[in-house]
Amino acid sequence: MAAMATIVLWYLVAATVRVVTANTTTSCDHVNSGYTCSPQISHYWGQYSPYFSVGQADAPVSSDAVPEGCTVTFAQILSRHGARDPTASKTTLYNATINRIQSSATSYGPGYEFLSDFEYTLGADQLTTFGQQELINSGIKFYQRYEALARRGEGQYVPFVRTSGEDRVVESAQNWTQGFHAARVADQKAVGTGGYPYNMVVISEDTGSNNTLDHGLCTAFEDGPDSDISTNAQTEWISIFTRNITARLNSNLPGVNLTATETIYLMDLCPFVTVADVNGKMSEFCGLFTQNEWRSYDYYQSLGKYYGFGSGNPLGPTQGVGFTNELIARLTGTPVVDETSTNHTLDNSAATFPLNRTLYADFSHDNDMTGIFWAMGLYNKTQSLSNTTVQSVDELDWYSASWTVPFAARMYVEKLQCADHRGEELVRVIVNDRVRPLETCGGDQYGRCTLSRFVESLGFAREGGDWSSCWS
Ligand SMILES: *[C@@H]1O[C@H](CO)[C@@H](O)[C@H](O)[C@H]1NC(C)=O
Ligand SMILES: *[C@@H]1O[C@H](CO)[C@@H](O)[C@H](O)[C@H]1NC(C)=O
Ligand SMILES: *[C@@H]1O[C@H](CO)[C@@H](O)[C@H](O)[C@H]1NC(C)=O
Ligand SMILES: *[C@@H]1O[C@H](CO)[C@@H](O)[C@H](O)[C@H]1NC(C)=O
Ligand SMILES: *[C@@H]1O[C@H](CO)[C@@H](O)[C@H](O)[C@H]1NC(C)=O
Ligand SMILES: *[C@@H]1O[C@H](CO)[C@@H](O)[C@H](O)[C@H]1NC(C)=O
Ligand SMILES: *[C@@H]1O[C@H](CO)[C@@H](O)[C@H](O)[C@H]1NC(C)=O
Ligand SMILES: *[C@@H]1O[C@H](CO)[C@@H](O)[C@H](O)[C@H]1NC(C)=O
Ligand SMILES: *[C@@H]1O[C@H](CO)[C@@H](O)[C@H](O)[C@H]1NC(C)=O
Ligand SMILES: *[C@@H]1O[C@H](CO)[C@@H](O)[C@H](O)[C@H]1NC(C)=O
Repeated sequence: MAAMATIVLWYLVAATVRVVTANTTTSCDHVNSGYTCSPQISHYWGQYSPYFSVGQADAPVSSDAVPEGCTVTFAQILSRHGARDPTASKTTLYNATINRIQSSATSYGPGYEFLSDFEYTLGADQLTTFGQQELINSGIKFYQRYEALARRGEGQYVPFVRTSGEDRVVESAQNWTQGFHAARVADQKAVGTGGYPYNMVVISEDTGSNNTLDHGLCTAFEDGPDSDISTNAQTEWISIFTRNITARLNSNLPGVNLTATETIYLMDLCPFVTVADVNGKMSEFCGLFTQNEWRSYDYYQSLGKYYGFGSGNPLGPTQGVGFTNELIARLTGTPVVDETSTNHTLDNSAATFPLNRTLYADFSHDNDMTGIFWAMGLYNKTQSLSNTTVQSVDELDWYSASWTVPFAARMYVEKLQCADHRGEELVRVIVNDRVRPLETCGGDQYGRCTLSRFVESLGFAREGGDWSSCWS
């Protein structure tokens, strides 16, 4: 056992060497800004965008910097796994679409020639190397942001890590700790042992598992009449926005007669082929579509999330209640009160759910994070999404899948002690570097609420959401 642990330790230390030497000149991905190549296109791929720093342009809060006079006393990251290959079912469909084009096209229009000898080599479900690096970068960024806490490196300052059990999520958690540790090693002011590699709580995704990082227990949500809402909303929108695109593709690929669904597959291949490249070099598929078409695509993916796990679905936000109640427990240092998807065995034990840490990291999926954001009410004041027109993306503080749950998405929840609020702890929530205004608890110009008002605003979660409707 001891020998085994040593091997793991050395293996991870060896792996961090690659972190430090990664060539940042050629990669489209960067520790602070995330994915920066062709932002007019790559930031409009819904949940298939690689993480990018959303920034504060037009946002109610002008900076994500820690406000002057404040110190951070607690930080939680909730992260999506990094960029991956398509799911197994999709990878088969994408390959079939390529095969069909190659066997039936009688010619290829200008810009479409690459399709004639494009070789489909994408795998299924697992992180790509680019996706692993995204999480390493996220670990570095988190360390640097919370350096004053992270560098203390012992006891309560060692990050407490939990991950949902699917391979790509567990691996993401490991890659994140690699980055965090590499930043710590590079920090000359770091003290303590660091305690790396960190223990992790891995929560099973098996059927019937109580897992606040992966939905599945709420029967009416999974299988009930409303479980098709998001597909229906997307179908409506596909029929509107793909018509002209499909006509253009078909005129450039005579003999093929692509369907609207296959148009979506060709659009999907743009992000997936891009993140299969180690540097995230933009794939040729991306150039088949215009900037406006990518906006429509982003909207299509956003509809899926909004009507799947947001307020467009009667039971969507309820899926995020369990994690929200765990967050309240961590913020307040009191035991978890929840009768939804929490596992009481795990949450009642200090070994698997300690309440005295200052740094917490949880790893999950886009859908689950969407449910959690809506359970917390983070987007309650944004416009609802119509299934027939793209709403203005840049004019208002906006809900979109690419801004909220891209690959390697991350929410930070911070507690602050501030000179202008003596004695009262404050909370801030930051999603992909954009500060949420927290209007729901009286957020101030920095997006800060007092801890007590923040917890008070989470009545929806504290009351269990609509969990009782899961079996009606
Ligand atoms: C990084 O990439 C740039 C541009 O391709 C190249 O000039 C440089 O030598 C590379 N550096 C390393 C360390 O590989
Ligand atoms: C794609 O389909 C072709 C033709 O059926 C097959 O030979 C190839 O192995 C498939 N590629 C992948 C990566 O599944
Ligand atoms: C946290 O609490 C647990 C259980 O009460 C205790 O065993 C542990 O020593 C505490 N850790 C720190 C860093 O205070
Ligand atoms: C990411 O973590 C996995 C699992 O620990 C490891 O195999 C892989 O090498 C890591 N990626 C990088 C780029 O270090
Ligand atoms: C709760 O967690 C324990 C400890 O990991 C596990 O044995 C048990 O199967 C879990 N129960 C459910 C319902 O998920
Ligand atoms: C589209 O939205 C309208 C208005 O919200 C709603 O009545 C209709 O059911 C939706 N259609 C689909 C297919 O979701
Ligand atoms: C499709 O093309 C027609 C003719 O150019 C144009 O009038 C219409 O607005 C386009 N529709 C969409 C959804 O872009
Ligand atoms: C293309 O396929 C559709 C069914 O998806 C069919 O209605 C249409 O006639 C086909 N067009 C051509 C030119 O083959
Ligand atoms: C799992 O969740 C169900 C539904 O809320 C609950 O009845 C059960 O007690 C939970 N099991 C554990 C081990 O926490
Ligand atoms: C967000 O809106 C929902 C639905 O109206 C409501 O139940 C919930 O309490 C709101 N959340 C917050 C934090 O205000």
